[in-house]
Amino acid sequence: MSEKVVKVGLLGFGVVGQGAWKHLTQGEAGLEKLLGVRIELAKASVRDLKKTRDLSIPSEKLTTDSWEIVDDPEIDLVCELMGGINPARELTLAAIAKGKHVVTANKALICEHGAEIFQAAETSKVHYGFEASVAGGIPIIKAIRESLVANDFKLIYGILNGTSNYILTRMEKEGAPFDEVLAAATELGYVEADEALDLDGFDAAHKAVILAYLAHGIWAPEGGFPIEGIRRISTEDLQAAGKLNCKVKLIAVIRRDFETNGVALGVYPALVPMSEVIARTDGVYNGISVTGDVLGTTVLTGRGAGQDPTASSVISDVVDAVKVIRGDKPPPKLLHTHEGVCRLASPSEVEGSFYLRLTVEDKPGQLARVADTLADQGVSIATVLQSGIPERSAASIILTTHATNEHSISMAIDALESLSGVLDKPVLLRMFDPNNHSK
Ligand code: NAP
Ligand code: HSE
Repeated sequence: MSEKVVKVGLLGFGVVGQGAWKHLTQGEAGLEKLLGVRIELAKASVRDLKKTRDLSIPSEKLTTDSWEIVDDPEIDLVCELMGGINPARELTLAAIAKGKHVVTANKALICEHGAEIFQAAETSKVHYGFEASVAGGIPIIKAIRESLVANDFKLIYGILNGTSNYILTRMEKEGAPFDEVLAAATELGYVEADEALDLDGFDAAHKAVILAYLAHGIWAPEGGFPIEGIRRISTEDLQAAGKLNCKVKLIAVIRRDFETNGVALGVYPALVPMSEVIARTDGVYNGISVTGDVLGTTVLTGRGAGQDPTASSVISDVVDAVKVIRGDKPPPKLLHTHEGVCRLASPSEVEGSFYLRLTVEDKPGQLARVADTLADQGVSIATVLQSGIPERSAASIILTTHATNEHSISMAIDALESLSGVLDKPVLLRMFDPNNHSK
């Protein structure tokens, strides 16, 4: 048995916390052999000591006081697996200030306070590991920061939210109702404590902001780019996408124009051509396609949510932190070396084609009025598909457009919403084109 011991405290003992504890315990001997250090799980904090948990640990190892862990001078490494902004932020900054290394899965916290935390970790010369914060078990953080360091990134896009991909996949393949699939995803431990984060695109946006910082050195503010979720997607949209040889996926897109250094960022459900690996990435799997100027394109896929894959990423960071503690290597740099080179692109700079589904009164001239409204905003129609909804004396019109910019389409949608004969709020989806060279 090694004489050297690294004591680890967990803030949070839920889905991810229990997964990390379980696999650190099961892998203890192997990790000790690898590192020459014994990792001792000292304590975990929770809100409710009475809650039934899948993993049973000695009761004296659980506490409701997270500060007991952060203030314990014997604990070298803190895993923040509680989620949310506060008290996670205060606890993280306090642990860093005390010289403790920190590992986290908390993308919401990094998205909102990453600049402050990265600076604090660099100042205190501690390891701040966040591999589990993006795409569950896929090692995308390490890939971008280390393995692909030779590249400037033209396009990073893909599925960053397991819950929404699981829901869309089961709706498409089984025709399963949205609420039933959401309940199953919750049972499987995929869904955030606040399910709106998954369903309304914010969780994927938090992850996209982290990737955009790693790739381009910009912290994109919430409200500075489009974020849309999956609540309005119907089985009709999923089927129509199939007819266009596409799949509907909730994707995050980070595209850099090398001439202007504008970075277009967006999170939205989009029609992705079936030729793309991302279109064929189903269930809880995430997929990230990375195009670098040196590498070309590579795609990473794997389980993007759930206890075990996320624990795999947490443990990878724990191992890196132990190597720093052992003095084998310095903590990796967190602040981007080229901050200030790129900027967030505005909606008028971002072009693409769109899919539009309208429910309209079935009366003469309606389609012409829709076409005129689009033309008024400079939006040109590429294809039209119309079918009847007899029970409502209505028709469903599915249009695709030629390339237009985000600003024009958003003006067109506003105009369509108030057009006489348009019955429901239009459903607008982007048509993802990997070869789009947006200005
Ligand atoms: P979870 O199951 O809800 O667990 C959260 C844990 O933190 C619970 O043990 C909870 O205590 C504890 N906790 C919350 N607030 C606390 C407070 N103020 N003081 C003390 N303990 C507190 O959540 P999770 O799914 O494990 O997610 C944890 C983090 O990992 C989040 O940042 C999430 O976004 C991220 N993440 C999750 C997944 C996933 O698949 N689940 C994947 C990647 C990243 P009680 O148990 O007593 O309520
Ligand atoms: N709720 C998140 C998801 C967990 O479904 O992707 C993984 O970050």
